[in-house]
Amino acid sequence: MSHTEPAMLEARELKKSFNGHVVLDGVSFSIARGESVVIIGRSGSGKSVLLKLLIGLLRPDSGEVWVAGENISTMDERQLMRVRKRFGMVFQGAALFDSLTVAENIAFAFRHDRTISQSEIERRVAEVLEMVDLPGIQNKKPAELSGGMRKRVGLARAIVYKPEIVLYDEPTTGLDPIVADSINQLILRVRDRLGVTTVVVTHDMRSARCLAHRILMLHDGRIYASGAPDEFFASTDPVVRQFIDGVSNPKEVYF
Ligand SMILES: Nc1ncnc2c1ncn2[C@@H]1O[C@H](COP(=O)(O)OP(=O)(O)O)[C@@H](O)[C@H]1O
Ligand SMILES: [Mg+2]
Repeated sequence: MSHTEPAMLEARELKKSFNGHVVLDGVSFSIARGESVVIIGRSGSGKSVLLKLLIGLLRPDSGEVWVAGENISTMDERQLMRVRKRFGMVFQGAALFDSLTVAENIAFAFRHDRTISQSEIERRVAEVLEMVDLPGIQNKKPAELSGGMRKRVGLARAIVYKPEIVLYDEPTTGLDPIVADSINQLILRVRDRLGVTTVVVTHDMRSARCLAHRILMLHDGRIYASGAPDEFFASTDPVVRQFIDGVSNPKEVYF
């Protein structure tokens, strides 16, 4: 056995095209246990595709994803199910089921799980709702919640399984800056209290600065630049500068 711990999450030369359109053209990086990494890139640069590859919802055309020393790219669906339990994912939007209550949404992943009792599920749901500062809203429906509250419920659902890695897809997109900041604080709280490895995809540079130990920039299908936030924001590379300054310009809107 090696004395160095394997990376929590590793992408090796990932390539992915759709109908001849190359989205990812050799993406490689390694994320240590407990690290938080923010992946930035323009709309359409392949950020959501990359997250889906990392969690095994999409398969790469070539390249590999390694999770805690296991290559998931060759796994069948049953093996992938086991690995996915190590992940929590907060989807873009929040993706709650409107017909279900908050508690039912959060406990959705337990619906086929015979190993956990109803009272334990209820205890866990209450615990994660407290973690996201929404205690007692179990019986509300998503339609009764504000955008920020829905994001919090999405976050609660992502951590109820006690994941080791949490992936966030644009967690602050569409929120006003004050609500966005409160979501960022929650992401940090979850990271620090649960000790999870955190991967955030965003084009919000404020969030990137606030959340990242390390920023990776996806551009032209590859990791074009990377570094600690201070280093990254001081970059003189024209492509990096254009991205940082462009998305900081409030007159421009990026979706
Ligand atoms: N399932 C799919 N089928 C076909 N094209 C897709 C699919 N998913 C994503 N794409 C394409 O891949 C590109 C990157 O998409 P995406 O990862 O969603 O970008 P981002 O999240 O960076 O805005 C886009 O051109 C998108 O249209
Ligand atoms: Mg996306």
